Amino acid sequence: MKISARTKIVGIFGYPIYHSLSPIFHNAAFAKLGLDFIYFPFSVKPKDLKEAVQAIKSLDIVGVNVTIPHKEKILPYLDEISSEAKMIKAVNTVYNKKGKLIGYNTDGEGFLGSLRKEGKFNPEGKNVFMVGAGGVAYAISFALIKAGIKKLTFTNRELNFKRARILFKHLKGTFKDRCQLSLIDFHKRNSRRILSKVDLFVNATSVGMRSSNDQLLIDPDLFSPDVFIYDVVYNRKTNFLKSAEERKLSSLGGLGMLLYQGALSFEIWTHRKAPMETMREALECEL
Ligand SMILES: NC(=O)c1ccc[n+]([C@@H]2O[C@H](COP(=O)([O-])OP(=O)(O)OC[C@H]3O[C@@H](n4cnc5c(N)ncnc54)[C@H](OP(=O)(O)O)[C@@H]3O)[C@@H](O)[C@H]2O)c1
Repeated sequence: MKISARTKIVGIFGYPIYHSLSPIFHNAAFAKLGLDFIYFPFSVKPKDLKEAVQAIKSLDIVGVNVTIPHKEKILPYLDEISSEAKMIKAVNTVYNKKGKLIGYNTDGEGFLGSLRKEGKFNPEGKNVFMVGAGGVAYAISFALIKAGIKKLTFTNRELNFKRARILFKHLKGTFKDRCQLSLIDFHKRNSRRILSKVDLFVNATSVGMRSSNDQLLIDPDLFSPDVFIYDVVYNRKTNFLKSAEERKLSSLGGLGMLLYQGALSFEIWTHRKAPMETMREALECEL
């Protein structure tokens, strides 16, 4: 890679940031297309976020991805927010359009891209069960309802059940009766009556990200054989995903979502089609 005065900068703001895989596949994509861009991981402490956002303009950075813990906090510092990001109140991509900072959220579309293209699963008219009520659960639930699912049942652990109530209210307020919504207590998540009728199950929690927290939240024996399982965790194969595979259930881990959301950011910054295969190879090689 040759860096010159013409090289354009993109990157990611997060804290901590050392674990991010985005530099790997974005830099591979720039190299593949011969684009004079570099993707850099910026470790931005929460207290420095405002100044870091201002620096996007002063340093003429083309754009950044935004990750934990800044996705919600960054909103007031941007000049414009896409309707998608406004709806879910979180931004994962910023584009510096001639000095104007525009916030987008590509997580939901990234999830749908992976589900449809890699999973060959069309969510329209489907019955979905989701565990989790964090940032990813917001993006996924909004995307699925917009994609026309029939029913969404979800829950969150008791510790923060309030988060699930807030998400429920937010979905109800936004979509009215466009989708049947059902919020259930966490201890009722392993109900055969509910799980046996589910077409798509989404683990939108961080359970399984580390081997130390890799418990099975849901009993995979309770699903119908036609269910599709999506686990958003991308850094390792979770026990849940392994058990789905052992039972020959259709399933995907979160690597595809990571790639597809990244590809959409890439296209916002470069106006070029992202080289998906190159990005995937770079990621798989790293992992
Ligand atoms: N594939 C991708 O492209 C992609 C993109 C972004 C994130 N992710 C992954 O998605 C996961 C969630 O990210 P996020 O941004 O939504 O994080 P978040 O806002 O912190 O939410 C985490 C969710 O996991 C739940 N949770 C954590 N530990 C749990 C446990 N032991 N038992 C039950 N529930 C538990 C949390 O429940 P509480 O509310 O009770 O804490 C919350 O619902 C992470 O693993 C992240 O790496 C994947």
